[in-house]
Amino acid sequence: MPGFTGWAGLTQIGAPKPGETIAVAAATGPVGATVGQIGKLLGCRAVGIAGGPEKCAYAVDELGFDACIDHKAPDFADQMAKASPDGIDVYFESVGGKVLDAVIPLLNPHARVPVCGLVSQYNATQLPAGPDRMNWLMGQILRKMIKVQGFIIFDSFGHLYPEFAKQMGAWVKSGKIKYREEIIDGLENAPEAFIGLLNGENFGKRVIRVGNKK
Ligand SMILES: NC(=O)c1ccc[n+]([C@@H]2O[C@H](COP(=O)([O-])OP(=O)(O)OC[C@H]3O[C@@H](n4cnc5c(N)ncnc54)[C@H](OP(=O)(O)O)[C@@H]3O)[C@@H](O)[C@H]2O)c1
Repeated sequence: MPGFTGWAGLTQIGAPKPGETIAVAAATGPVGATVGQIGKLLGCRAVGIAGGPEKCAYAVDELGFDACIDHKAPDFADQMAKASPDGIDVYFESVGGKVLDAVIPLLNPHARVPVCGLVSQYNATQLPAGPDRMNWLMGQILRKMIKVQGFIIFDSFGHLYPEFAKQMGAWVKSGKIKYREEIIDGLENAPEAFIGLLNGENFGKRVIRVGNKK
């Protein structure tokens, strides 16, 4: 499902062209890793964003991202600008918050923003403290002619699943797309595992294994 989400959001809404720059956060997670690797297969520059040097090194060395920036770094926004010298054409939105803040000024005219998730906001109980920047954001969308489109994977693109399975199956089989799983045993550990995922404690797709170990 997350692989399908990355594939569909990127190809159907992001519609990247060779030579364009794609940015995606949670770059070592199942959605982000898929987006970055497909971006490379389509001839784009892929800039990942991840939490910590170990995840960033994996994104570049193993997944083939051109750059990966640690969102916990104090100069994160400056590093994002340096890693995107030609601006950003597709921002695959999965986290919101300060990553979105850093990316918006870098978006090129006619950029596309598939809105997949907002993980930094899932636990929020109230709106963030002001100033209210809603009108500034709408101004950016207007003046740069940016396309912003949310999607819910099976509602929006379920009809494309057979096409995805065929293309992704071939890519995985030939080693062009890699994936990483992190297995946690026991259904009783699922709540803690899920809370940890929202805090970035997972490295790869977090899977809960129930029943006997094989
Ligand atoms: N629209 C849909 O149909 C659909 C379907 C599936 C998934 N999604 C969404 O896609 C996104 C990725 O899903 P996934 O399963 O691939 O998750 P994931 O990458 O395995 O886990 C979430 C990651 O988000 C990052 N993160 C957490 N808090 C953050 C913050 N404040 N700022 C920046 N990054 C933060 C962490 O990675 P780092 O440690 O690297 O920061 C964490 O590991 C989620 O937003 C999810 O809800 C949407």
